[in-house]
Amino acid sequence: MLTLLKLLKDGRFHSGQALGAALGVTRSAVWKQLQHLEADLGLSIHKVRGRGYQLAAPLTLLDPAEVGRFSPACEWPVLVFDSIDSTNAEALRAIERNQIAPFLVLAERQTAGRGRRGRKWASPFAENVYFSLVLRIEGGMRQLEGLSLVVGLAVMQTLRELGISGAGLKWPNDVLVGQKKIAGILLELVGDPADVCHVVLGVGINVNMQMTDEVDQQWTSMRLESGKAFDRNHLVATLGIMLQKYLARHQSEGFSTIQAEWEQNHLWQGRAVSLIAGVNQIDGEVLGIDSQGALRLKVGGVEKVFSGGELSLRLRNDS
Ligand code: BTN
Repeated sequence: MLTLLKLLKDGRFHSGQALGAALGVTRSAVWKQLQHLEADLGLSIHKVRGRGYQLAAPLTLLDPAEVGRFSPACEWPVLVFDSIDSTNAEALRAIERNQIAPFLVLAERQTAGRGRRGRKWASPFAENVYFSLVLRIEGGMRQLEGLSLVVGLAVMQTLRELGISGAGLKWPNDVLVGQKKIAGILLELVGDPADVCHVVLGVGINVNMQMTDEVDQQWTSMRLESGKAFDRNHLVATLGIMLQKYLARHQSEGFSTIQAEWEQNHLWQGRAVSLIAGVNQIDGEVLGIDSQGALRLKVGGVEKVFSGGELSLRLRNDS
């Protein structure tokens, strides 16, 4: 089915006969595959008598060679899937298979994209970036302190470099434009965090997505913000370079030197918020983060520190 898509991706008309000849199948088999492309991948295909078939819009697919062309210094092996349950899940399976880290898993779509706190991550075909970078960490806990916030900062700087100037951070690691989420980060860890472990840095960026009914929070995409479509291979390469830079700094200097930069880009600094922890809610004012990336809140006049993957922040109405 994807061989057919690759023939159509230029956005030009192709006759059923030419497609059938290229694929070595009959015209009716081509017709069936076209129906699958529409039904399974949500693609829109124009069918015009006498001219043939045309994708409603040309498509650029992920291509490790293209990613490498944009970022020759990024030497992570790249595994690209047309469709996978979750790039994070696949990364964890690859660790089990003893794949040597670092390596990068990308996919055109995820059928069970994972978000934080058990949420789903909308992952339509060929529209966004679903990116899981696997690192082997040997330095113990210090190498993990603030790591997810560092990834958030690198994602935000990538978006700004590509023209999304309004991108900012929300603790712990959402990237927003205004109140709308444009990217999310999910770290998953296997092994012994105090000794040797592998960490999967999962990044989802809404790139060219213009509509979806699968997201239950305010969201936006690079395309919606800028009015133009982005080349995802170029975006992956830019993110790779930015991550390399921030991860090297984090490794050599620790999180405390990145803390101030993170706070400067925190959209909710000084705002009145509610911290949600399961059924509990704590109201306070955001003071910032500590040297390990935990949230500092002023609660009833007293500074308190919070950390943990299950926490989430909401702005209070009086904020
Ligand atoms: C969030 O809820 O904000 C985190 C979303 C993380 C989504 C990315 S997409 C690539 C990687 N694979 C997954 O299944 N999830 C992460």
